[in-house]
Amino acid sequence: MYSVFKKIFGKIMRLARSFRAEQARPDDVWAHFYLQTLEFEFYLGIDPRDREHGLRVAKQLLEAHPEAREELIAAAILHDCGKSVRPYHVLERVLVGLIPYGKGAGSRFEPIRVRNQHPQIGAELLRKSGGRLEVARLIEAHHCPQDDEEAQVLHFFDDLE
Ligand SMILES: [Fe+2]
Ligand SMILES: [Fe+2]
Repeated sequence: MYSVFKKIFGKIMRLARSFRAEQARPDDVWAHFYLQTLEFEFYLGIDPRDREHGLRVAKQLLEAHPEAREELIAAAILHDCGKSVRPYHVLERVLVGLIPYGKGAGSRFEPIRVRNQHPQIGAELLRKSGGRLEVARLIEAHHCPQDDEEAQVLHFFDDLE
């Protein structure tokens, strides 16, 4: 029960942080340390709220798993980059966020389509930008990690947010 409340509280806090891009303070210097040059250029194109979220996930993951590979940390930082193909509309994200991930898979409603496909979209964008294939692979698996242990860890810490 406690974890359910914690999760709901976390979602509310994240929503509150989503309202204004100017309020987001992604720690770009920290991100730069874990990303290669082309990945960092790509990272700077992501909405600051998604950058901030990615960094929180990456820092929590690293705190719990100091032995984590650099590719996993980079994937955590960039994992929601696929959402950046669509302008960031807070209310749209809230409404779409209420629908469980994967529902409405065949929907032609653009926000739902982007939400459901953002792992694939993001991985493809990163590959095209010259990012590491291993990082792209982890991004692609971050909502459906199956038996990939690193993707499972990423999914776990993303879910805590
Ligand atoms: Fe995601
Ligand atoms: Fe996420």
